[in-house]
Amino acid sequence: MFSLKVDDEIELGLFEVKQAPTLFALVDQNREYLREWLPWLDANTSVEDTKTFIKGALQQFAENNGFQAGIWYKGELAGTIGFHYVHWVTGRTEIGYWLGKNHEGHGIMTRATRKLVEYAFNDLGLNRVEIRCATGNHKSRAIPERLGFTREGTLRQVFRNYDQLFDIVVYGMLAGEWGK
Ligand SMILES: CC(C)(COP(=O)(O)OP(=O)(O)OC[C@H]1O[C@@H](n2cnc3c(N)ncnc32)[C@H](O)[C@@H]1OP(=O)(O)O)[C@@H](O)C(=O)NCCC(=O)NCCS
Repeated sequence: MFSLKVDDEIELGLFEVKQAPTLFALVDQNREYLREWLPWLDANTSVEDTKTFIKGALQQFAENNGFQAGIWYKGELAGTIGFHYVHWVTGRTEIGYWLGKNHEGHGIMTRATRKLVEYAFNDLGLNRVEIRCATGNHKSRAIPERLGFTREGTLRQVFRNYDQLFDIVVYGMLAGEWGK
């Protein structure tokens, strides 16, 4: 299975269906915490739902249209990261991520995101990586800001989280800017 070593502590691995119970347990333990900024919690209430998610993600990978990986921190599942899609015509992708609450504050997501940006530019030959965050999601926004992304603009009321609409900040990094 596809995997990427980030450093001595972190490994990213494409999800396999047999990992559904482990992933579901992490989702379930963090349900209320994740609900603040992720819209899919009410559609994932069983191991079966998580299996469906993983099968969809494997299909996405097979179609060369992105992937969803587990973030394994010191051998334990800490969260997920992936490319929502790959638009090959324009050479761009968008990264999405979440962590279990116990794993916040160690730089895990910043390190994992840095690795995926390098992978996008150096291995896939893409030209643009985007990260979209709700304006009020300061911990998420800190990741592209720490990595030197450009804040490109705000889209008003485009993200629905349960019963509320939120503004989104779009961050972008171009291949020619990365590492400068
Ligand atoms: C968004 C989310 C992944 C951010 O998690 P995070 O732990 O703040 O991010 P990181 O793993 O990069 O860690 C950064 C923190 O670790 C610290 N840190 C420690 N070592 C570090 C290192 N080597 N590199 C970078 N930061 C490091 C940073 O100072 C920062 O701490 P601070 O917030 O007190 O300043 C997490 O809050 C989350 O999953 N939220 C719920 C779901 C969500 O919002 N998803 C995103 C939707 S757009």
